[in-house]
Amino acid sequence: MKFLVINGPNLNLLGEREPDVYGDDSLQSINDELLGTMKSMGLDISFFQSNSEGGIIDRLHSARLKYDGVILNAGAYTHYSYAIRDAIAAIKIPVVEVHLSNVNSRDEFRKNSVIAPVCAGTIAGFGKHVYLLAANALIYMLGDNQ
Ligand code: DQA
Repeated sequence: MKFLVINGPNLNLLGEREPDVYGDDSLQSINDELLGTMKSMGLDISFFQSNSEGGIIDRLHSARLKYDGVILNAGAYTHYSYAIRDAIAAIKIPVVEVHLSNVNSRDEFRKNSVIAPVCAGTIAGFGKHVYLLAANALIYMLGDNQ
């Protein structure tokens, strides 16, 4: 199985950005740790980060031909990007929505996800572990379909 992790705007600043909310780990170290775990499970995983909506959409489109599933932290786009929602709906591979923070316990605007209805599921609030939890969710989902 091959998975792609997409991180959206401002997630390149993890480790520096509001560490009380998002933790002390950099995106690179989170990715490296996940890569190691995935390799030990015999799985392939790639990573992409973009601060732009178009970049995320282009990557979702190309992922449909190369990966079995996507793990997506769309950052603030989660709350208002109908274009990203449409891109997820347009591709047939499952997309798991993740958030490091518990978006339901924060500002009102973070409680609404416009992408959630077209995602396979959502995992939020467990810090960097959400990525591994989402990978496991994809493994179980795709396994059930085989
Ligand atoms: C986030 C939550 C979003 O509301 C926020 O805009 C982010 C990060 C998270 O991982 O908790 O940039 O997606």
